[in-house]
Amino acid sequence: MADPLGGPSAVPDLPTLAVPGRPQGAPVLPSPPVDAVISIQNLTKSFGSHTVLRDITFDVPRGAITAVLGPSGTGKSVLLKVIIGLLKPDNGGVYIDGELMSGLSQKDLFRIRRKFGVLFQDGALFGSMNLYENIAFPLREHTRKNEGDIRKIVHQNAELVGLMDHLRKLPGEVSGGMKKRAGLARALVLDPEIVLFDEPDSGLDPVRVAFLDELVLDVQRETGATIFIITHNISSVMRTADHLGMLYQSRLVRFAPKDEMFESHDPVIHQFLNADLAGPIGMDEMAEGNAPRREPAAVGAPSAGE
Ligand SMILES: Nc1ncnc2c1ncn2[C@@H]1O[C@H](COP(=O)(O)OP(=O)(O)OP(=O)(O)O)[C@@H](O)[C@H]1O
Ligand SMILES: [Mg+2]
Repeated sequence: MADPLGGPSAVPDLPTLAVPGRPQGAPVLPSPPVDAVISIQNLTKSFGSHTVLRDITFDVPRGAITAVLGPSGTGKSVLLKVIIGLLKPDNGGVYIDGELMSGLSQKDLFRIRRKFGVLFQDGALFGSMNLYENIAFPLREHTRKNEGDIRKIVHQNAELVGLMDHLRKLPGEVSGGMKKRAGLARALVLDPEIVLFDEPDSGLDPVRVAFLDELVLDVQRETGATIFIITHNISSVMRTADHLGMLYQSRLVRFAPKDEMFESHDPVIHQFLNADLAGPIGMDEMAEGNAPRREPAAVGAPSAGE
């Protein structure tokens, strides 16, 4: 398929675009225009012969909570890594406030990354640093704050995630859930405009997940940040998300406001959001590869326009 962006390598010096989220020359989407802080356009990413993401296009609305769902192995974490510029797309691209990530110099990439707070799926803590130092790391990396200010910010965020009594421990000495919370605190210390969470709730008990959801809502309300969450947790999504995207077999099935997604008759969306055994999604997604979607066993036919 033709690449409307000319491929990432063909546009190294793309200028900053006048209209955030609506890049020049990018295809016009059929949906009404949104103020997109992250605009993903015709994104394709493969590893060898395995195409993990195929022609993905959607806009992440500014100042809202967006969740991306999908069975294991459908490329959710890869999508996040492409968004922050850790992985380069093969085709298409990601625009942050109108700037094409794959066209940026190292200096500009660093500037754009300053906008992000990221919680990776595995927490990605530095094993040799205690939790305090892990949480302080972005402040040391990106700011010139003095030790007193750093301590204040680290303590505020550690308090928020309930880690005040554990700051001197190394990641290897705490539970998976505590690592996750330290990663969360670290993602928030720079007051980021865009917060990306890869499965923030995995490894947490249900009560902590509910607290975490409240925290996410509070952070969004207080800071106006754009929050992008990758998750499997449907009850969490119901509590927090404004918009939902669903990935399946390397494609975006749909991106829409949450209510529309929950009303969807698309068999994949319906099955996933209802945790239904009957439907096209099987136990072993990897084994299915990129096979065509099977007909659902017990759900309605897709409605028009889906
Ligand atoms: N660096 C890499 N090299 C090769 N293959 C990779 C790489 N990173 C991811 N993949 C493959 O891409 C596919 C999607 O991986 P990804 O981690 O994005 O899945 P996911 O949707 O996040 O799954 P989960 O819900 O289990 O976290 C997998 O088949 C994975 O093996
Ligand atoms: Mg993942």
